[in-house]
Amino acid sequence: MPTLLIVYNTKTGNTERMAEAVEEGAKQVEGVSVTRTYHATPAQLEEADAVVIGAPTYNHRMTLDIQQLLEKVAKAEVNLKGKPAAAFGSYGWSGEAPANVLEVLRNRFNMNTIEPPIRSKYRPGEKTLQECRELGRKIAEQL
Ligand SMILES: Cc1cc2nc3c(=O)[nH]c(=O)nc-3n(C[C@H](O)[C@H](O)[C@H](O)COP(=O)(O)O)c2cc1C
Repeated sequence: MPTLLIVYNTKTGNTERMAEAVEEGAKQVEGVSVTRTYHATPAQLEEADAVVIGAPTYNHRMTLDIQQLLEKVAKAEVNLKGKPAAAFGSYGWSGEAPANVLEVLRNRFNMNTIEPPIRSKYRPGEKTLQECRELGRKIAEQL
């Protein structure tokens, strides 16, 4: 069965709400195994058929957990070329993290990214949650 991995970080739960909605949308598609996790290894990314990363913005950047995951994946020289990928995240005012993550997935790992990333100013409302569900469904349908 094809697998979709949703990896995210959150400090106050806003990006987590988005991650749950992405998972919900992806699970609407039959025959895809969906995993939502806080901690992932490069091997898990390698095994997954699609990857979605949730990254809130703190101090104009992604949090250390997400940054370190991307660095570990780069170091392990995991081959993610051509796999569907997407990013999302909550923010307060500048919101750089999801675009920065997506740029790495696209330019460094040559993944097939879904643009643009989904961003939520603070806690996601129903409209944003619906966008997250649609993203989850869309990426799962590609598998
Ligand atoms: C110490 C601190 C620094 C922050 N820095 C930024 C920032 O540089 N840009 C931004 O858009 N939001 C910033 N925020 C706002 C968070 O991104 C926002 O609260 C978001 O909803 C947090 O998502 P989370 O609940 O998933 O952790 C900051 C918040 C805190 C507490």
